[in-house]
Amino acid sequence: MKFSYVNPTLIQFGQGQIDSIKTLIPAYSNVLVIYGGGSIKRNGVYDQLSAALTEYQWQEFSGVEPNPTVETLNQAVAICKEDNIDFILAVGGGSVIDGSKYVAAAAKYDGDGWDIPTGKHQIKDAIPIGAILTLPATGSESNSGSVVTKAETQDKLAFLNPLVQPKFAVMDPDVMKTLPERQLINGLVDAWVHVCEQYITSPAGNLVQDGYAEALLKSLLVLAKDYDNRDNDQWRANLMWTANQALNGLIGSGVAHDWATHMIGHELTALYGVDHARSLAIVQPSLLRNQLAYKQAKLEQMGRNVFNLSESVDLATNTIDAIEAFYHSLNVATKLTEHNEGKDAAIDKVIGQLEKHGMTQLGENQAIGLAQCREILAQAVA
Ligand code: NZQ
Ligand code: ZN
Repeated sequence: MKFSYVNPTLIQFGQGQIDSIKTLIPAYSNVLVIYGGGSIKRNGVYDQLSAALTEYQWQEFSGVEPNPTVETLNQAVAICKEDNIDFILAVGGGSVIDGSKYVAAAAKYDGDGWDIPTGKHQIKDAIPIGAILTLPATGSESNSGSVVTKAETQDKLAFLNPLVQPKFAVMDPDVMKTLPERQLINGLVDAWVHVCEQYITSPAGNLVQDGYAEALLKSLLVLAKDYDNRDNDQWRANLMWTANQALNGLIGSGVAHDWATHMIGHELTALYGVDHARSLAIVQPSLLRNQLAYKQAKLEQMGRNVFNLSESVDLATNTIDAIEAFYHSLNVATKLTEHNEGKDAAIDKVIGQLEKHGMTQLGENQAIGLAQCREILAQAVA
């Protein structure tokens, strides 16, 4: 094991914490508040942040859509450049926070912002960001990742850079009270797959990372089993903290990473508009079955330590079945039905996009090439 680890995002966790932004955003900042389709206006978050920002010069940019597009975000980039914005407050779920990361970096670049996710431009500077999280799922509030889409070409690409990681993240579980069921479930599933992508690889004897990953998975299982009690402060706080810890760098330090489920899932979202979390549930069980030879030992460990399954020669496949049953218990589908074309045409399209995006050697062993993706999709597409 050899790694560097720092998570520099200050977390302000708990009820009533939104007000603390007035002590966290530097005085005299010229702030751009970025948000989505307006849920924050209906649940009091906007009122709370307005009250906290009275001493600041600030303006707002709304309309960042789920799976944020650069077509929309570039309008915010123009505002930042014209008005010399020097602090961005991102208020929303993963889409708003990811979109704000793109805006923060693109505003400090003279070229086309799309050069950032394509890797043509290396970020050298970015406007500082603070986040108020309203949907626990992605971990974007305290990590350096972002995923943005170019609607014109249906390209959904990720980039990572420490310069866009939020300086602080306010996590008040009360904001979850207005979340639709679908989004609450998306949060459980996305966090679950984030842990899996960093855990179901090959055993390396990392006791701390494995043990903590298992604690997070068990916590998500408990929350899913206790789903009927979701209108409860403790339930909300547990989901918010678990989803954050699932992708804040800690369990991923010093271990192999997979992320193939995410890369294939991103194509399903870009082509067919499937919610991010649901794209993962569609891909992951078929991918795990396809990659059993590499993942057997870790799946067996997960079966024992997370699901309490009994020893058998089928322990690894039983674990995959248990993962699939976990999704089904939340009424989350594990087959793609949203494509409005024949199964073969849909698979060809996804494979074409993966190839275009250079996703031709995925997984912790680079063992998932286009041929394996085709096999996985043959199982995952209805
Ligand atoms: O836009 P508004 O009106 O706010 O409504 C949103 C949106 O329609 C709504 N919502 C959010 N908080 C709410 C609320 N509605 C009522 N009450 C609240 N408190 O929820 C809808 C979905 O929001 P979105 O931000 O799109 O969801 P999520 O947090 O799941 O983010 C998904 C995006 O994150 C990316 C995904 O690819 C996708 O684009 N990811 C980012 C990652 C990262 N940065 O590390 C990792 C992830 O794997 C993922 O790829
Ligand atoms: Zn995810």
